[in-house]
Amino acid sequence: MMMSGLAIHNIMMRICCHTATATITSSRRHLFSKSSSNIQSASGWGNLKRFPSLRPPPPTLLPHCFSSASSLSSITDASSAATTSTPATPALSEEDVMMGYVFGKKKATQVAHSLWKRVVQKGDVVIDATCGNGHDTLALVNLVADNTIHGGRVYAMDIQKVSLETTSLLLDQSLTPDQRKHVELLLMCHSKMEEVVPSDVAVRLVVFNLGYLPGGQKALITRSETTLLALEAAKRVLAPGGLISIVVYVGHPGGREEFEMVQAFASELPVQNWVCTKLQMLNRPSAPMIILLYRRW
Ligand SMILES: C[S@@+](CC[C@H](N)C(=O)[O-])C[C@H]1O[C@@H](n2cnc3c(N)ncnc32)[C@H](O)[C@@H]1O
Repeated sequence: MMMSGLAIHNIMMRICCHTATATITSSRRHLFSKSSSNIQSASGWGNLKRFPSLRPPPPTLLPHCFSSASSLSSITDASSAATTSTPATPALSEEDVMMGYVFGKKKATQVAHSLWKRVVQKGDVVIDATCGNGHDTLALVNLVADNTIHGGRVYAMDIQKVSLETTSLLLDQSLTPDQRKHVELLLMCHSKMEEVVPSDVAVRLVVFNLGYLPGGQKALITRSETTLLALEAAKRVLAPGGLISIVVYVGHPGGREEFEMVQAFASELPVQNWVCTKLQMLNRPSAPMIILLYRRW
């Protein structure tokens, strides 16, 4: 069951797509914003350090880690353990999660969370472009927040107030007050992300979890037109060595068109600057897909 990081990388590359030409611009407006109790000041989070894009994976665990009992929470257990007396479940390695996905025991969102760990370090600036119920935001805070290092910032946005409220509650329950300060919740369309991220900040990861809010109104879904604008913006703010991570769903009205738009966007990124990968369940046509856009160093 052991598999090296390189082997996983190779598998992913075989499943994937590339091509064409485009230019990356970085004209970004300097604008800080919003007044709400959930929103922190964005000042003072510049000077992002550049890190190697791939770090050595943590030690591989035993095959029992594929049990369906180990859920998305395993991603965050190590940090949340600091706030509770419950013994922490050992965090799974990226290889374990990828193998769990291949053997039908892990979900697309868990694979995405796991891959983020290869790109993001404490002190990084990241964007959750669709915060929804806050699970992705929480995982991101646990990756970047560290009070011993200057920086570490999550910009989490959604067009629904209820999403920000749910996310805020989850963060309050799961994080220490110091960790909580690393998140800025923003009621806005992700196509405007450049208006809130300071222009001198290089973003390490932009996360999209498309579709509708689980348990919410299915009419309030992400839409191809604004998702495309947001992907263009994400491309501009992303640092070299950074990743755009997209989980895309095709089972709802408009989902297939949105997926095709994302796939076309990825396929047109220039191969000399980008590595674009798709993970797809071939015999589950409506299963979510993971699309990863890695900006080369
Ligand atoms: C699948 S949910 C996200 C799940 C979330 N990441 C989580 O961990 O719970 C998709 C979210 O995208 C939001 N959304 C839709 N259009 C948006 C837009 N233009 N900008 C930002 N968020 C949007 C929806 O309101 C919904 O909450």
